Amino acid sequence: MKPATSCFLAVLFTLSALAAFAQVPERPIPRLVKKDGRYALFVDNAPYFILGAQVNNSSGWPAMLPKVWPAMEFLHANTVEIPVYWEQFEPRPGQFDPSVVDTLLTQARAHRLRLVLLWFATWKNGNPHYMPEWMKLAPEVYPHVVDKDGRAVDSPSPFAAASCEADARAFAALMRHLKGVDPQRTVLMVQVENEPGTGGNLRDYSPAAQRLFEEPVPAEVVKAMHVPPGKSSANWQEVFGSDAEVCFHNWAVATYIGKVAAAGKAVYALPLYVNAAPGTHRCAVLRDPTQPGPPGSYESGAPSDNVLPIWKAAAPAIDMISPDDYAADAAGYVKTLDIYHRGDNALYIPETGGSPRFFFFALGHQTVGFSPFGLDFTRIKTIPDAARPKDELLTPWARTGTKEFVAPFVPTYSLIGPMARDIARLNFDGKLQTAAEEQGKVTQTLSFGSWDAVVSYGVWARNGRPVGNPQPMGGVLVAQIANDQFLVAGFYCRVDFRPTAPNQHREFLRIEQGTYQNGAFQFQRILNGDQTDGGMDFSSEPLVLRVSVTSY
Ligand code: DGJ
Repeated sequence: MKPATSCFLAVLFTLSALAAFAQVPERPIPRLVKKDGRYALFVDNAPYFILGAQVNNSSGWPAMLPKVWPAMEFLHANTVEIPVYWEQFEPRPGQFDPSVVDTLLTQARAHRLRLVLLWFATWKNGNPHYMPEWMKLAPEVYPHVVDKDGRAVDSPSPFAAASCEADARAFAALMRHLKGVDPQRTVLMVQVENEPGTGGNLRDYSPAAQRLFEEPVPAEVVKAMHVPPGKSSANWQEVFGSDAEVCFHNWAVATYIGKVAAAGKAVYALPLYVNAAPGTHRCAVLRDPTQPGPPGSYESGAPSDNVLPIWKAAAPAIDMISPDDYAADAAGYVKTLDIYHRGDNALYIPETGGSPRFFFFALGHQTVGFSPFGLDFTRIKTIPDAARPKDELLTPWARTGTKEFVAPFVPTYSLIGPMARDIARLNFDGKLQTAAEEQGKVTQTLSFGSWDAVVSYGVWARNGRPVGNPQPMGGVLVAQIANDQFLVAGFYCRVDFRPTAPNQHREFLRIEQGTYQNGAFQFQRILNGDQTDGGMDFSSEPLVLRVSVTSY
């Protein structure tokens, strides 16, 4: 397309979108709210839970969308994470083409879905692959990181002022456009970049970067990292020793992204976040919080557990640092949730994989949303059906884009979807707890003051002893909706209640099975007799119970 034509189209789209704007009532801008140490994402003035899914990297094009929306309907998602590509959005310097964004908004609304947009720009998995062609063709203006031998590597330099200015200008143009065309607030949040950082090199070794590395550590980093007063005017090496290069590169990347985010937020204050992939034994991209190796064994310049305060100080326009939690084991998964669920950081899981029961771990850590990666029907499948399960574990995304990859999440999403608003509100009010099965732990207890909820896995008889499921698969949420009344929903477990007062026994007053319609619990039947004499059993079928208890 010629520049003049694309510019004309962009103006036309903006004008028609603005005309639409005039007719649609403006809703409140989504925002993160903190209360008593807990966070919620407020959408339309009430807590909202992102029951999300992220599409594959190249699925954000209009031609692919017919393979996206059916997957979301099949899944019962309420929100889609979808990329906006800098290379598409700014095909020529300063000429912005919002046509794809407008298509996303229009079609998402038609499918009653909300969006989280992913700004694939300077960094995509540590690489500059989404920079527009005109930038790739001018590496002297938009330079790469330089290694110790002076060679350019496949990662953008965080010290490239021209790249940062260009990214900030383009991101502000995107946010300005969204502000103009989205009074409905179809877009809830924006991810700035994608898994930033640099693999294989600890930092930029260009002469300009080297000079900064030898200068005193900036005051905001000294403060954020609690550097002792005696060292406050020392340089990076003197202050941080063997971690100096990682801290330096994180400060540089966070400062750059902070500028991009601030430019966008100044025009439209949606919640913004940066995603990070903590390493696991399976996918050692970033520092593994459970077994941290030395600098060099993980990607540098990404918000791993050891540098979060640097990011908070250098990029205040970023509201959340959000882990892509791909840990395959429960302990690793939960460790990551613990690290990113902080007083100064609302938890959000923008990418995940693994067992659907991990949803319950994330919910119990008060995440504002959960979005498994690669859930669309673009039929990307790089390993054959006959591949051994072991191979699938090694390449978890090799089956993305298929119905079989989406299917495991469907029961959980079918269960949570209709009650998502209630779940978000109860979590924000501190009324909700969860349990999910862990290898070797057949019983877990949740404490609600005068009641304990006891969750057991693999109970095969009315008065049987729990032996665990054949593989960990159980998960449940329990929310206290009145002193002696609970909402319980989950899979593959038994739940019972126990009074905490001594010598008291539980009596079920009434166990109601129901469904959620228009956000409210609708009674279907009372469960009793064989269905509840041993406790409340949850199977593969989505099941919501409202239970009233008393004691004798
Ligand atoms: C994490 C990245 O953030 C995603 O964009 C994607 O590349 C997945 N890894 C794996 O395909």
